[in-house]
Amino acid sequence: MNNKKVAIIGAGNVGSTLAYTLASKEICSHIVLKDIKQNLVKAMALDISQAANAAKSATIVTAAEDGSDLKNCDVVVITAGLPRLPGMSRNDLLLTNAKIISEVILEIKEYTPNSIIVVVSNPLDAMVYTALKVSDFPRSQIVGMAGILDSARMSHFILEKLGYGAGQIESSVMGGHGDDMVPLTNFSTVAGLALTEVLSDEDIADIVEKTKNGGAQIVKYLEKGSAYYAPAHATSLMVEAILNNKKEIYPCAVMLEGEYGYSDVVSGVPVMLGANGVEKVIELSLNERQKELFAKSVSSVQELIDGLNENKFFEN
Ligand code: LAC
Repeated sequence: MNNKKVAIIGAGNVGSTLAYTLASKEICSHIVLKDIKQNLVKAMALDISQAANAAKSATIVTAAEDGSDLKNCDVVVITAGLPRLPGMSRNDLLLTNAKIISEVILEIKEYTPNSIIVVVSNPLDAMVYTALKVSDFPRSQIVGMAGILDSARMSHFILEKLGYGAGQIESSVMGGHGDDMVPLTNFSTVAGLALTEVLSDEDIADIVEKTKNGGAQIVKYLEKGSAYYAPAHATSLMVEAILNNKKEIYPCAVMLEGEYGYSDVVSGVPVMLGANGVEKVIELSLNERQKELFAKSVSSVQELIDGLNENKFFEN
């Protein structure tokens, strides 16, 4: 067992499911859960710790009393913030969640300034941007979770159409975690076969639409919240890659510094994750149509950043 400490800020559905996933797989030695709801966080820490014992995992889960409990974390995951409700876009959460993220980031900066930070709160790309601006940390240190989730959804819809290939589907989605995300059909495969080998153009187009709508579909059924099993599992892969210095490539939300022709804006692109966080940003060769779609997605994120600036969010 390693000697790694992970903090999860926000013990709602995503945060607690993530803690459960990390603890039951014994991915780290200690998980600290932190939430403004003190009784909730204590209940979750006890329940998940007991689940870890049932699973014969040595991971210990505790509830944070205050910021000092975050000291010496290797990774901090931020899931705090309001979730999406039916009829709300991820963007409707902008200012409220930006304020929450800023407070959390300042606490991380005070107590555990060397940890790698994984942001999960929505609207994701704008929250990663906010975290970077408020902390002044390098872009390698703050990364957002969404591409793995969106890719998992795409794989699900491919499997649903095909009826075979479970576990052998590799899907690729780029761009912001929003309605303009860009499923990359030509970088997606089933057991190494191109999608066009196994599916009609019509089916592929349908998969793309369903993938983009994947989060909203669940929000609509849940009525008072958004998805959590797939988001938590996707986040656990990132945490594991960082803690174990796996140098795996995943689509994640990062600050672009010239890649794909953009700077000072966050979007989802393939990155290499290791002990230093984002160790490399990978530039895929996109075709003209994909470049156009990516541009549209980046401009949607830019609008949110502009919204934060118009509200003078970063000025004090
Ligand atoms: C989703 C929300 C959480 O994609 O953004 O499920």
